[in-house]
Amino acid sequence: MELLRTRADLARLAPLRSGGRLVLVPTMGALHAGHLSLVERAAALGPVVVSIFVNPTQFAPGEDFAHYPRDLEQDLERLRPLGPAAVFAPPVSEMYPHPAGAAVEPGPRADALCGARRPGHFRGVATVVVKLLNLVGPATAVFGRKDAQQCLVLDEVVRDLDLPVRLIDAPTLREPDGLAMSSRNRYLEGDDRRRATCLWRALRAAQRELEAGERGVVPLEELLALHLADADVVEYAEVRRVPDLSRPPRAEGRLLLAIAARVGPARLIDNLVLDVGPREVRAASLLEGGQP
Ligand code: PAF
Repeated sequence: MELLRTRADLARLAPLRSGGRLVLVPTMGALHAGHLSLVERAAALGPVVVSIFVNPTQFAPGEDFAHYPRDLEQDLERLRPLGPAAVFAPPVSEMYPHPAGAAVEPGPRADALCGARRPGHFRGVATVVVKLLNLVGPATAVFGRKDAQQCLVLDEVVRDLDLPVRLIDAPTLREPDGLAMSSRNRYLEGDDRRRATCLWRALRAAQRELEAGERGVVPLEELLALHLADADVVEYAEVRRVPDLSRPPRAEGRLLLAIAARVGPARLIDNLVLDVGPREVRAASLLEGGQP
């Protein structure tokens, strides 16, 4: 496993790129089992590069950029047994040698949900991911489905800018009590950790209601809100269409049930992607090629 820190170091990826199967797993480090499952998924497709970069341009002023957990040594230790070909962990000056330069403007999928609450967030995500894709040159990139809107925004960017890469969304890994794995779970202690499970409980309650035949968007969103009483602030709890994130008139077709809520010091997001037919409800993926 090579550790690459600079653009010049990336030249060492040339032999891997030439096989046409290189897979990138972009991360911000603080790796947990969820990230490792993305690397495992990637390894089934070809040689893997994991990027570790806490991207300043996707954090708004007042967000947790300064406190975001960083531990490169521990991340490398966790990755080693999975055998990725390389880890690209550049300093900020290497990724952004020209501060306040050009950026990638995401499309309308960035407007709803987190995009409406974190102005500029998806512009920062789209910019850094396009830079990483250009620098590393993978055939495929794997993203976690927990960041569902991010997957759909990047899918739109890749499609509309004709970037020669295939994106895959990989399933969310959960703790035994259902809490979606996230680097920000480190912020949760004591009662906050217990209360954080309300996101998953809300999603499962809405899924059960869909399975029982409910197709009204408003009753489903009310049910989500009801189960989020343990959260300190609910930013949103919504039913949206996949892939365009529009509001459906009825809960039918491929749907994203999406929640963002604050519990103690942590801003948590979680979701379910479901194919809802007239009678049946099945787990689904966001992007073509993803596994439910
Ligand atoms: O999902 C993340 O960890 C980040 O948003 C990403 C895709 C690595 C871009 O910084």
